[in-house]
Amino acid sequence: MASKFFDHGKIERNVTLLMVLGLITVAIGGIVEIAPLFWIDSTIEKVKGVRPYTPLEQAGRNIYIREGCYNCHSQMIRPFRDEVERYGHYSLAAESMYDHPFQWGSKRTGPDLARVGGRYSDEWHVQHLKDPRSVVPESIMPGYSFLADRELRTKGFGGDLTALRRVGVPYTDADVAKADEDVRTQATPGADAADLIARYPKAQARDFDGNPERVTEMDALVAYLQMLGTLVDTSKAAPKEQAR
Ligand code: HEC
Repeated sequence: MASKFFDHGKIERNVTLLMVLGLITVAIGGIVEIAPLFWIDSTIEKVKGVRPYTPLEQAGRNIYIREGCYNCHSQMIRPFRDEVERYGHYSLAAESMYDHPFQWGSKRTGPDLARVGGRYSDEWHVQHLKDPRSVVPESIMPGYSFLADRELRTKGFGGDLTALRRVGVPYTDADVAKADEDVRTQATPGADAADLIARYPKAQARDFDGNPERVTEMDALVAYLQMLGTLVDTSKAAPKEQAR
Protein backbone atom coordinates (compact mmCIF):
# COMPACT_ATOMS: atom_id res chain seq x y z
CA MET A 1 0.00 0.00 0.00
CA ALA A 2 1.51 3.32 -1.04
CA SER A 3 1.77 5.92 1.70
CA LYS A 4 0.29 9.36 1.32
CA PHE A 5 3.68 11.11 1.31
CA PHE A 6 6.18 8.57 -0.03
CA ASP A 7 5.93 6.10 -2.77
CA HIS A 8 7.41 3.24 -0.76
CA GLY A 9 7.08 0.82 -3.61
CA LYS A 10 9.44 2.96 -5.67
CA ILE A 11 12.00 3.31 -2.85
CA GLU A 12 12.05 -0.39 -2.09
CA ARG A 13 12.59 -1.39 -5.70
CA ASN A 14 15.45 1.09 -6.27
CA VAL A 15 18.53 -0.03 -4.30
CA THR A 16 20.46 3.19 -4.89
CA LEU A 17 17.59 5.39 -3.78
CA LEU A 18 17.03 3.18 -0.72
CA MET A 19 20.71 3.45 0.24
CA VAL A 20 20.89 7.21 -0.27
CA LEU A 21 17.73 7.84 1.76
CA GLY A 22 18.89 5.37 4.42
CA LEU A 23 22.22 7.15 4.68
CA ILE A 24 20.52 10.54 5.06
CA THR A 25 18.31 9.20 7.84
CA VAL A 26 21.25 7.70 9.73
CA ALA A 27 23.30 10.89 9.23
CA ILE A 28 20.56 13.01 10.83
CA GLY A 29 20.53 10.70 13.85
CA GLY A 30 24.33 10.84 14.06
CA ILE A 31 24.46 14.63 13.87
CA VAL A 32 21.85 15.01 16.60
CA GLU A 33 23.96 12.80 18.90
CA ILE A 34 27.44 14.02 18.02
CA ALA A 35 27.09 17.72 17.17
CA PRO A 36 26.32 18.94 20.74
CA LEU A 37 29.68 17.50 21.88
CA PHE A 38 31.43 20.21 19.86
CA TRP A 39 29.74 22.97 21.85
CA ILE A 40 29.96 21.71 25.41
CA ASP A 41 33.37 22.11 27.09
CA SER A 42 33.49 18.68 28.65
CA THR A 43 31.35 15.62 29.02
CA ILE A 44 32.81 15.06 32.48
CA GLU A 45 31.66 17.24 35.34
CA LYS A 46 34.67 18.75 37.16
CA VAL A 47 35.00 17.51 40.71
CA LYS A 48 37.14 19.15 43.41
CA GLY A 49 40.16 17.13 44.46
CA VAL A 50 40.71 15.12 41.28
CA ARG A 51 44.32 15.51 40.16
CA PRO A 52 46.81 13.65 37.95
CA TYR A 53 48.63 10.82 39.73
CA THR A 54 52.05 11.42 41.26
CA PRO A 55 54.85 9.65 39.38
CA LEU A 56 55.08 7.06 42.21
CA GLU A 57 51.31 6.39 42.11
CA GLN A 58 51.48 6.20 38.33
CA ALA A 59 54.38 3.73 38.61
CA GLY A 60 52.21 1.64 40.96
CA ARG A 61 49.39 1.85 38.47
CA ASN A 62 51.69 0.59 35.72
CA ILE A 63 52.59 -2.40 37.92
CA TYR A 64 48.90 -3.00 38.67
CA ILE A 65 48.27 -3.22 34.92
CA ARG A 66 51.44 -5.23 34.22
CA GLU A 67 50.47 -7.84 36.83
CA GLY A 68 46.91 -8.06 35.54
CA CYS A 69 45.21 -7.11 38.81
CA TYR A 70 42.33 -5.86 36.64
CA ASN A 71 41.51 -9.43 35.69
CA CYS A 72 40.00 -9.88 39.14
CA HIS A 73 39.38 -6.33 40.37
CA SER A 74 37.22 -3.49 39.04
CA GLN A 75 37.51 0.17 39.99
CA MET A 76 33.96 1.33 39.53
CA ILE A 77 31.39 1.39 42.32
CA ARG A 78 27.94 1.41 40.78
CA PRO A 79 25.10 3.47 42.30
CA PHE A 80 23.30 0.46 43.77
CA ARG A 81 22.59 0.13 47.45
CA ASP A 82 24.51 -3.14 47.91
CA GLU A 83 27.64 -1.68 46.28
CA VAL A 84 27.44 1.69 48.02
CA GLU A 85 27.05 0.02 51.43
CA ARG A 86 29.96 -2.29 50.82
CA TYR A 87 32.45 -0.04 49.05
CA GLY A 88 31.36 3.57 49.76
CA HIS A 89 30.12 6.43 47.60
CA TYR A 90 29.59 5.37 44.00
CA SER A 91 32.36 6.27 41.56
CA LEU A 92 32.18 9.63 39.81
CA ALA A 93 33.17 9.95 36.15
CA ALA A 94 35.77 12.58 37.07
CA GLU A 95 37.55 10.17 39.39
CA SER A 96 38.82 8.19 36.44
CA MET A 97 39.30 11.09 34.03
CA TYR A 98 43.11 10.75 34.16
CA ASP A 99 43.08 6.95 33.86
CA HIS A 100 44.72 5.70 30.68
CA PRO A 101 43.55 2.99 30.33
CA PHE A 102 40.54 3.14 32.67
CA GLN A 103 40.01 0.33 35.16
CA TRP A 104 36.23 0.05 35.16
CA GLY A 105 34.73 -3.33 34.65
CA SER A 106 32.01 -5.67 35.71
CA LYS A 107 33.96 -8.85 36.36
CA ARG A 108 34.91 -9.10 39.99
CA THR A 109 36.66 -12.17 41.28
CA GLY A 110 37.95 -9.96 44.10
CA PRO A 111 36.33 -6.83 45.55
CA ASP A 112 36.10 -3.44 43.81
CA LEU A 113 39.16 -1.34 44.66
CA ALA A 114 37.94 2.15 43.68
CA ARG A 115 37.92 3.28 47.36
CA VAL A 116 40.36 0.89 48.98
CA GLY A 117 42.74 3.77 49.91
CA GLY A 118 43.05 4.22 53.67
CA ARG A 119 40.94 1.17 54.45
CA TYR A 120 43.93 -0.91 55.53
CA SER A 121 47.41 -0.11 56.85
CA ASP A 122 50.47 -0.26 54.61
CA GLU A 123 51.63 -3.31 56.59
CA TRP A 124 48.35 -5.08 55.84
CA HIS A 125 48.73 -4.41 52.10
CA VAL A 126 52.35 -5.59 52.04
CA GLN A 127 51.47 -8.76 53.95
CA HIS A 128 48.38 -9.36 51.83
CA LEU A 129 50.25 -8.85 48.54
CA LYS A 130 53.11 -11.11 49.67
CA ASP A 131 50.86 -13.89 50.93
CA PRO A 132 47.10 -13.20 50.70
CA ARG A 133 46.15 -16.32 52.69
CA SER A 134 48.17 -15.20 55.71
CA VAL A 135 45.62 -12.42 56.32
CA VAL A 136 42.51 -13.71 54.50
CA PRO A 137 42.58 -17.53 54.89
CA GLU A 138 39.90 -18.18 52.27
CA SER A 139 41.51 -15.90 49.65
CA ILE A 140 42.17 -17.19 46.15
CA MET A 141 44.32 -14.20 45.19
CA PRO A 142 47.85 -15.08 43.99
CA GLY A 143 50.85 -13.83 45.96
CA TYR A 144 53.16 -11.10 44.63
CA SER A 145 56.05 -11.30 47.12
CA PHE A 146 58.62 -10.62 44.39
CA LEU A 147 57.44 -7.00 44.21
CA ALA A 148 59.16 -6.32 47.54
CA ASP A 149 62.49 -7.54 46.13
CA ARG A 150 62.35 -5.63 42.88
CA GLU A 151 63.96 -2.23 42.83
CA LEU A 152 61.60 0.30 41.24
CA ARG A 153 62.88 1.84 38.05
CA THR A 154 63.44 5.42 39.15
CA LYS A 155 64.63 6.93 35.90
CA GLY A 156 62.73 8.11 32.87
CA PHE A 157 59.40 8.89 34.49
CA GLY A 158 59.34 12.23 32.68
CA GLY A 159 58.68 10.15 29.55
CA ASP A 160 55.68 8.42 31.16
CA LEU A 161 54.26 11.80 32.17
CA THR A 162 54.87 13.27 28.71
CA ALA A 163 53.00 10.37 27.11
CA LEU A 164 50.06 10.92 29.46
CA ARG A 165 50.19 14.65 28.76
CA ARG A 166 49.72 13.91 25.07
CA VAL A 167 46.42 12.19 25.82
CA GLY A 168 45.19 15.09 27.95
CA VAL A 169 46.50 14.66 31.50
CA PRO A 170 47.49 18.18 32.61
CA TYR A 171 51.01 17.54 33.93
CA THR A 172 53.03 20.79 34.05
CA ASP A 173 56.58 21.25 32.75
CA ALA A 174 57.75 21.24 36.39
CA ASP A 175 55.99 17.90 36.99
CA VAL A 176 57.76 16.36 34.00
CA ALA A 177 61.16 17.83 34.91
CA LYS A 178 60.92 16.65 38.53
CA ALA A 179 59.29 13.26 37.84
CA ASP A 180 62.27 11.07 38.80
CA GLU A 181 63.02 13.15 41.89
CA ASP A 182 59.32 13.02 42.89
CA VAL A 183 59.33 9.20 42.79
CA ARG A 184 62.18 9.05 45.30
CA THR A 185 60.86 11.90 47.46
CA GLN A 186 57.44 10.31 47.91
CA ALA A 187 58.85 6.92 48.95
CA THR A 188 61.71 8.13 51.18
CA PRO A 189 60.88 8.87 54.82
CA GLY A 190 62.22 12.22 55.99
CA ALA A 191 62.57 13.67 52.48
CA ASP A 192 61.16 17.18 52.03
CA ALA A 193 57.88 16.53 50.26
CA ALA A 194 56.42 20.06 50.55
CA ASP A 195 56.95 20.88 46.88
CA LEU A 196 55.55 17.49 45.81
CA ILE A 197 52.41 17.94 47.93
CA ALA A 198 51.95 21.52 46.66
CA ARG A 199 51.84 20.17 43.10
CA TYR A 200 49.93 16.99 43.99
CA PRO A 201 47.53 17.82 46.86
CA LYS A 202 46.84 14.97 49.33
CA ALA A 203 49.89 13.03 48.10
CA GLN A 204 50.99 10.65 50.86
CA ALA A 205 54.77 10.60 51.29
CA ARG A 206 56.35 7.86 53.40
CA ASP A 207 57.98 4.46 53.19
CA PHE A 208 55.21 2.12 52.04
CA ASP A 209 56.82 -1.32 51.92
CA GLY A 210 58.44 -1.44 55.37
CA ASN A 211 61.94 -1.17 53.93
CA PRO A 212 63.04 2.49 54.06
CA GLU A 213 66.41 1.77 52.46
CA ARG A 214 65.06 0.86 49.05
CA VAL A 215 62.36 2.09 46.68
CA THR A 216 60.72 -1.10 45.45
CA GLU A 217 57.83 -1.97 43.18
CA MET A 218 55.92 -2.79 46.36
CA ASP A 219 56.33 0.85 47.48
CA ALA A 220 54.81 2.06 44.23
CA LEU A 221 51.90 -0.41 44.22
CA VAL A 222 50.95 0.26 47.85
CA ALA A 223 51.23 4.04 47.28
CA TYR A 224 48.80 3.64 44.39
CA LEU A 225 46.34 1.48 46.38
CA GLN A 226 46.43 3.87 49.36
CA MET A 227 45.54 6.81 47.08
CA LEU A 228 42.56 5.11 45.38
CA GLY A 229 39.32 6.91 46.21
CA THR A 230 40.92 9.39 48.64
CA LEU A 231 41.20 12.43 46.36
CA VAL A 232 37.55 13.48 46.39
CA ASP A 233 35.84 14.25 49.70
CA THR A 234 32.66 12.23 49.18
CA SER A 235 31.41 12.97 52.71
CA LYS A 236 30.41 16.40 51.38
CA ALA A 237 28.06 14.90 48.79
CA ALA A 238 24.40 15.49 49.59
CA PRO A 239 22.75 12.49 51.32
CA LYS A 240 20.37 11.96 48.41
CA GLU A 241 23.39 11.52 46.16
CA GLN A 242 24.56 8.59 48.25
CA ALA A 243 21.88 6.37 46.76
CA ARG A 244 20.49 5.34 50.12
C1 HEC B 1 42.85 -14.40 40.66
C2 HEC B 1 42.18 -13.17 41.02
C3 HEC B 1 42.96 -12.05 41.65
C4 HEC B 1 44.04 -11.37 41.17
C5 HEC B 1 44.80 -11.60 39.87
C6 HEC B 1 44.31 -10.31 42.11
N1 HEC B 1 43.42 -10.37 43.14
FE1 HEC B 1 43.31 -9.06 44.68
N2 HEC B 1 41.81 -10.14 45.51
C7 HEC B 1 41.24 -11.28 44.96
C8 HEC B 1 40.25 -11.83 45.88
C9 HEC B 1 39.42 -13.07 45.64
C10 HEC B 1 40.23 -10.97 47.00
C11 HEC B 1 39.37 -11.12 48.28
C12 HEC B 1 40.10 -11.98 49.31
C13 HEC B 1 41.30 -11.27 49.84
O1 HEC B 1 41.17 -10.24 50.50
O2 HEC B 1 42.43 -11.75 49.59
C14 HEC B 1 41.21 -9.94 46.74
C15 HEC B 1 41.48 -8.87 47.58
C16 HEC B 1 42.30 -7.81 47.30
C17 HEC B 1 42.45 -6.62 48.12
C18 HEC B 1 41.67 -6.32 49.39
C19 HEC B 1 40.40 -5.58 49.00
C20 HEC B 1 39.43 -5.36 50.12
O3 HEC B 1 38.63 -4.41 50.00
O4 HEC B 1 39.43 -6.13 51.10
C21 HEC B 1 43.38 -5.83 47.50
C22 HEC B 1 43.87 -4.47 47.97
C23 HEC B 1 43.82 -6.52 46.32
N3 HEC B 1 43.14 -7.71 46.23
C24 HEC B 1 44.78 -6.04 45.44
C25 HEC B 1 45.24 -6.76 44.34
C26 HEC B 1 46.34 -6.31 43.52
C27 HEC B 1 47.10 -5.03 43.71
C28 HEC B 1 46.52 -7.26 42.56
C29 HEC B 1 47.59 -7.32 41.49
C30 HEC B 1 48.96 -7.23 41.94
C31 HEC B 1 45.51 -8.29 42.77
N4 HEC B 1 44.76 -7.95 43.86
C32 HEC B 1 45.34 -9.39 41.96
C33 HEC B 1 41.54 -11.80 43.73
C34 HEC B 1 42.58 -11.42 42.91
